[in-house]
Amino acid sequence: MKPDFNGITIGIGLTGSYCTYAAVFNAIENLKDCGANLLTIFSDRASSTDSRFGKCADFLERAKAITGKEPITTIPAAEPIGPKSLVDILIIAPCTGNTLSKLANGISDTPVLMAAKSHLRNNKPLVIFLSTNDALGMNLKNIGILLNTKNIYFVPFGQDNYVTKPNSMIAHIDMIPETIASALNYKQIQPVIISPHEN
Ligand SMILES: Cc1cc2nc3c(=O)[nH]c(=O)nc-3n(C[C@H](O)[C@H](O)[C@H](O)COP(=O)(O)O)c2cc1C
Repeated sequence: MKPDFNGITIGIGLTGSYCTYAAVFNAIENLKDCGANLLTIFSDRASSTDSRFGKCADFLERAKAITGKEPITTIPAAEPIGPKSLVDILIIAPCTGNTLSKLANGISDTPVLMAAKSHLRNNKPLVIFLSTNDALGMNLKNIGILLNTKNIYFVPFGQDNYVTKPNSMIAHIDMIPETIASALNYKQIQPVIISPHEN
């Protein structure tokens, strides 16, 4: 069943896991269909990198078309998110290993990380949609830190290809709405680790 997000403003922080963008943009449209007001924030890499997965200008344009708002692409534009209480919940989707590691260590040097820092000061929920091939490597300690951090919740995630990318993990795209609904009540949906075939 679709959650009802009428009256809820959801911030979506996009970082540089470009291979997920096709699915993430569909998920953003789905959140709009659930009634949410949406605001997008792009990391510096996300707003400036063209890749085989698409052109950054096209992604920025699509974000504006879906949300009806200019995407946030600078730290000064992201800073008011907390002071002006601009969103009820923030989801970083996709969240790179780079952004995850910085968040776990209190670094706020991109618009998405600034948005997270600014939002968390209001004691509001932050959701992580992980997508990184070092999840079970260099970043496992940082995932552990964030799993144990107040007001941070994870979209359930699992290994996407343990044969060719044994350290890689990705969150389940179709679990975004229910994770957000649960996080709005300050609850982590369980199980948080789900193999792709179980979903
Ligand atoms: C084509 C391409 C695909 C990438 N995919 C991923 C990915 O899926 N996950 C990830 O953690 N990093 C990925 N990266 C690396 C990040 O974009 C890079 O670490 C960048 O510094 C992230 O910055 P950000 O976290 O501020 O967006 C990719 C890079 C490129 C060029």
